[in-house]
Amino acid sequence: MDGNGRWAKQRHMPRHAGHRAGVKSVRVVVEESARLGIEVLTLFAFSSENWRRPRQEVDLLMELFMSALRGEIRRLTENDVKLRVIGDRSAFPRNLQKLIGEAEAATCNNRRLILQVAANYGGRWDLTQAARQLARRVAAGELDPDLIDERTVAAVLSFPDLPDPDLFIRTGGERRLSNFLLWQAAYAEIFFTDVLWPDFSADLFGQALADFSRRQRRFGMIAEQVAAISADGAA
Ligand code: FPP
Repeated sequence: MDGNGRWAKQRHMPRHAGHRAGVKSVRVVVEESARLGIEVLTLFAFSSENWRRPRQEVDLLMELFMSALRGEIRRLTENDVKLRVIGDRSAFPRNLQKLIGEAEAATCNNRRLILQVAANYGGRWDLTQAARQLARRVAAGELDPDLIDERTVAAVLSFPDLPDPDLFIRTGGERRLSNFLLWQAAYAEIFFTDVLWPDFSADLFGQALADFSRRQRRFGMIAEQVAAISADGAA
């Protein structure tokens, strides 16, 4: 969700006004995802590296998460949305950790859409904590290192029970992944747009999905093999 700061700057407003405006786009994309039958939406709200921002901005973002969590639980339930937070929440203020736990518990039976908010998350953090878990199991004699394969690693990452993302959308004009879902996005299709996050709309979301639907995903195979598999599936 990149571009909040620039959006505010263009309007001669403080950066936090951009983050506040960004919350509106979050609402749009969550409601649109639920409406379109998307099963999982993951939003990158705060990276492991965002602690390096000025203290005032970090504090403001924490406050914004708190108020969004407090204010949105009812709306999430109305839309049948289950909230999950991924990332190292132990670094957050205690009251924010508590609120996250309450929001997850309040929405845990919702079924229409899983909304994952990545907070204090980093792809490298995820791989590191996974390595630590596996190393502990090896040291305890519970796991044979020779039996570690991709499934063993995937099982200790942040969301082993959900499919890998199909589509990765980055707003704000940068053309990089910035440490997001490094393992899980291995085969994600990527959609870059110059639009700043507060201007992200249902219409642009639709364009990203339409663009995605025109891509051919080969997963290492050749085009003819993919076409044969699709024809089999359709038969
Ligand atoms: C990146 O834009 C955005 C963030 C670091 C914060 C994103 C947070 C929100 C949209 C608000 C709350 C989210 C939830 C899920 C309640 P930037 O500040 O790096 O923008 P810039 O590149 O223009 O400076």
